[in-house]
Amino acid sequence: AKRRATDEQEIERLVRAFYVKVRSDAVLGPIFDGVIGEDWEPHLKKMFDFWSSVMLTTGRYKGQPMRAHLKLKEVSPSHFDRWLTLFRETADEICAPEVADLFTEKAARIAESLQLGMFFEPAL
Ligand code: HEM
Repeated sequence: AKRRATDEQEIERLVRAFYVKVRSDAVLGPIFDGVIGEDWEPHLKKMFDFWSSVMLTTGRYKGQPMRAHLKLKEVSPSHFDRWLTLFRETADEICAPEVADLFTEKAARIAESLQLGMFFEPAL
C-alpha cells in the first residue's frame, strides 16, 4: 500500500511546535500575540484544518487566508522570510526529510501568493 506523506497526528505536532517557535520569536511573537491574544487554541485548531486540507486534501479548512493577512498592516516581506525559516526548521525536526520538503514547498508557494496580494504594487 502507498504510504501517506503525513497524517493528522504529525500535522498537529508540527503546527504546535511551529507556533511555540513563532510565539518566542522576538519579531514574529508580538505580531501574532497582538492579533491572537491569550487563547491560542482556536488559531491552532484552524491551522490543523488548514494543513489537513493542504497536505491531505480533506477540505476541512473553509477560511480566507488572503483576507486575514491583508488586515495585518505591520507585516513586511522580511517577516515572511523569518516565518518560512522557522517553518522549515520545525518541519525538519518533526518530519521525515521528504515530508519536510513537501510541507516547506507548500508553505513557500502559499507565502508567495499571500505576499503578492499584500505587497504587490502596480507600476502605474
Ligand atoms: C492566520 C500572521 C504567514 C496561513 C494568521 C493570523 C495571523 C497571521 C496574526 C491570525 C489572523 C486573525 O485571526 O485575524 C502571519 C504572519 C505571517 C503569516 C505574520 C508571515 C509573516 C502565513 C503563511 C501561511 C499562513 C505563509 C500559509 C502557509 C494562515 C492561515 C490563517 C492565518 C490559514 C487562518 C486564517 C483564517 O481563516 O482566519 N496569520 N501569517 N500564514 N495564517 Fe498567517
